[in-house]
Amino acid sequence: MIGSAKGPPIGITGLGVYAPERVVTNAELAKHVDTTDEWIVERTGIRERRMATEDQALTDIALPAARAALVDAGADPGEIDLLICATVTPDMMFPTSSALMADTLGCPDAAAYDLLAGCTGFMYAIAQAYGMLASGLSQRALVIGGDVLSSLLDWDDRSTLVIFGDGAGAVVMEPVERGGFLGFELGADGGGGANLQLPGSGSRKFDHPEQMLKMNGREVFKFATRVLVSSGEAVLAECGRTIDEVDVYVPHQANKRIIDHAVGKLGVPYERTVVNVDRFGNTSSGSIPLALADARADGRLRPGALVLMTGMGAGLTWGSALLEWSEAGG
Ligand code: ACO
Repeated sequence: MIGSAKGPPIGITGLGVYAPERVVTNAELAKHVDTTDEWIVERTGIRERRMATEDQALTDIALPAARAALVDAGADPGEIDLLICATVTPDMMFPTSSALMADTLGCPDAAAYDLLAGCTGFMYAIAQAYGMLASGLSQRALVIGGDVLSSLLDWDDRSTLVIFGDGAGAVVMEPVERGGFLGFELGADGGGGANLQLPGSGSRKFDHPEQMLKMNGREVFKFATRVLVSSGEAVLAECGRTIDEVDVYVPHQANKRIIDHAVGKLGVPYERTVVNVDRFGNTSSGSIPLALADARADGRLRPGALVLMTGMGAGLTWGSALLEWSEAGG
């Protein structure tokens, strides 16, 4: 799916993030599996990640992010009429984490649902919210992305244990006077789905069901390097913009080598690229908002800045959005 924004301007007016306090270093992981800090840093760029404690579930880390986004937007929770939570690690399948959070936050008039699109979930969620806001169906939306992937990790599998972390982010989206979203490109390729899966997590019966994440790292790496470039280029072309105009490039934080490849192929200057995978690892649906928050903290997300975001992950899925950071946004 690809399209440029033709309706009224819809932007991000509030941003909030949260990551669990527990910092897990590469050295700590090396006590559990046969790996080294050198290998992890060289192959992934990751130095540490945050991990939830045993009693922390998704809503425990997503609610602080959501509250921060609401405060940032100056939004009353009661005015939120749409709450989408992108995650592959909800507290439980139902009640949905979105419904639980709408209740806790005090959003009685909100349509609330969880959205499942792997690490691309946040991109799919903001595209859906955009559509509902642009059509006038929604007036003010809260979009949350977050995951507690540590709950799905096999602590004996060094190839997955070292790359994931936990984190969440949220944005308030609503009509803005100028700027806002310019276009989206979203895609899926279920043919490659088996390269990143959680067997036994749904209604499909497996002889030996497992509740641990399985990944073919090399195949996902090839997929990621391809779609980060093709999706970014597609949404730019659709919106009649060029990579030279992009002020802030926010790729999914999966692996520094994947980001380096995309930066080289796209031709976007490195200083315009947001990289925080070294501190957070791959936080799945929390990755893009956590990176946006870093870009804002270092002053790059100024009003009018052209921002290109691209996510990719399980499905396999990918998605890009192009937006002009709006005046009200932060
Ligand atoms: N420490 C030490 N050695 C390791 C580790 C480790 N943590 N992990 C793997 N190795 C070994 C392998 O066993 C292999 O050894 P061998 O040659 O003796 O068989 C060797 O290192 C090379 O393995 P590769 O898999 O080829 O290593 P690669 O350079 O591809 O790096 C990695 C692996 C980091 C997983 C990489 O493939 C990657 O980042 N893939 C993409 C992952 C990704 O982006 N996933 C997120 C998708 S988003 C979502 O929806 C969740």
